[in-house]
Amino acid sequence: MADRLSINDNRTGNKHELTLSYGTHVNAGSAISAKDLREIKTSDQDFGVLVHDPGFMNTSACKSSITFIDGEAGILLYRGYPIEELASKSTYLEVAYLLLHGELPNESQLDIWTTDITNHTFLNEKIKKFLDGFRYDAHPMGILVSALASLSTFYPKSRNVQDEEIRARSIRRLIAKIPTLAAFAYRYSVGLPYAYPDNDLSYSGNFLNMMFRATETKYNPDPVLEKTLDVLLILHADHEQNCSTSAMRAVGSSDADPYVSVSAATAGLYGPLHGGANERVLEMLSEIGTVKNIGAYIEKVKQGEFRLMGFGHRVYKNFDPRAKILKNLAEQVFEVTGRNELLDIAVELENVALNDDYFVKRKLYPNVDFYSGIIYQAMGIPVEMFPVLFAIGRTSGWLSHWEEMRRDPELRIARPRQMYTGYPKRDYLKIDARQ
Ligand code: ACO
Repeated sequence: MADRLSINDNRTGNKHELTLSYGTHVNAGSAISAKDLREIKTSDQDFGVLVHDPGFMNTSACKSSITFIDGEAGILLYRGYPIEELASKSTYLEVAYLLLHGELPNESQLDIWTTDITNHTFLNEKIKKFLDGFRYDAHPMGILVSALASLSTFYPKSRNVQDEEIRARSIRRLIAKIPTLAAFAYRYSVGLPYAYPDNDLSYSGNFLNMMFRATETKYNPDPVLEKTLDVLLILHADHEQNCSTSAMRAVGSSDADPYVSVSAATAGLYGPLHGGANERVLEMLSEIGTVKNIGAYIEKVKQGEFRLMGFGHRVYKNFDPRAKILKNLAEQVFEVTGRNELLDIAVELENVALNDDYFVKRKLYPNVDFYSGIIYQAMGIPVEMFPVLFAIGRTSGWLSHWEEMRRDPELRIARPRQMYTGYPKRDYLKIDARQ
């Protein structure tokens, strides 16, 4: 017999039995169906009980088998594989395949997948005219959000979201084209001519080529930096039902096509509390300026003047495992690029915060954004591109959730309820009767 939860309604004296369902991991939690709560009423006219959960602190919006996070233990698994193993042994394209298909590809599957993605990296030339309309100093994230949505008009068949083959093609196109769009957005914003994809290079190597190629006929990415970028993309690839993924699912649930849905997800990522945080981490480290100013800065954070960017997480209440990987990676990158004082400030800031009661009590640890910004900067990637890089990595995660959602028999349009707290019904006031 299924496990049940009993609720005694002391308004009516009725007892209600709610069925519990469980996730597959020991710490995945159990859930009741929120709809069952609607049966708990005081009369037939009563609407029933709602769950009030601003910010979705404790609401399961879907069943998903893609990513598991144990925030208390600092565990992150993609399709069951620990992030640490994927970061050290896999590649971004292989991880994207894993997220989308549920299993690691065999050799021939990986070959076909890589060729498919590589064959879709070019953009329709008209996109360049579209980009021309932006102001000379447009933020590349704003350009990316718009350019992604514009792809929907280039591929109108993608609106048929019921067709599995069309969905698969859209997915391949998006994963292939987002680095090109992103690099074009950057080159436009700094007035450089566009560098076209080089399909002989790896996914990450090609992105560096499109960002940095100058007059050379063949761009050869530094292997350490190419690997580092690949690891960063792996670490950002998915993080279950975060703000941008929830936007992807919410917009996609209306049967919107994947291009506008990924555009909406990218907009969600743009905010400084989500993907924009690494940009803010760098601003913060530059503002601190030197290790000896850290104490005074921390005091201001504790006074509530502002937050320590790159610290804290809705789910991780222990170390963010991605931050641990990045801290080690930062040291390797600095061996190639030379040391940067910001890393010293970051390391010391982390030390001070982790030993301070304010942060310990609130379980505030460095998150993925704390070190990613410093690494990107050392690689020569401009600050405005940080959230753009996050979007490139997260695209495979967004699309995995979108595909999972499309196949989910429980799929309904996302339409939360509310606790109405306004006026009861009242009569219209003529203008001369208003105060
Ligand atoms: N610096 C200082 N204090 C903080 C911080 C921080 N970075 N984050 C949380 N707190 C404090 C809050 O003031 C609050 O204290 P109080 O209980 O005394 O009021 C307590 O910790 C709980 O904070 P909440 O805002 O309730 O935590 P929530 O889970 O809603 O927020 C969030 C999570 C948005 C990530 C938050 O920690 C934050 O703003 N961090 C800085 C921005 C950042 O780094 N974002 C990147 C997140 S990772 C990602 O998106 C990839």
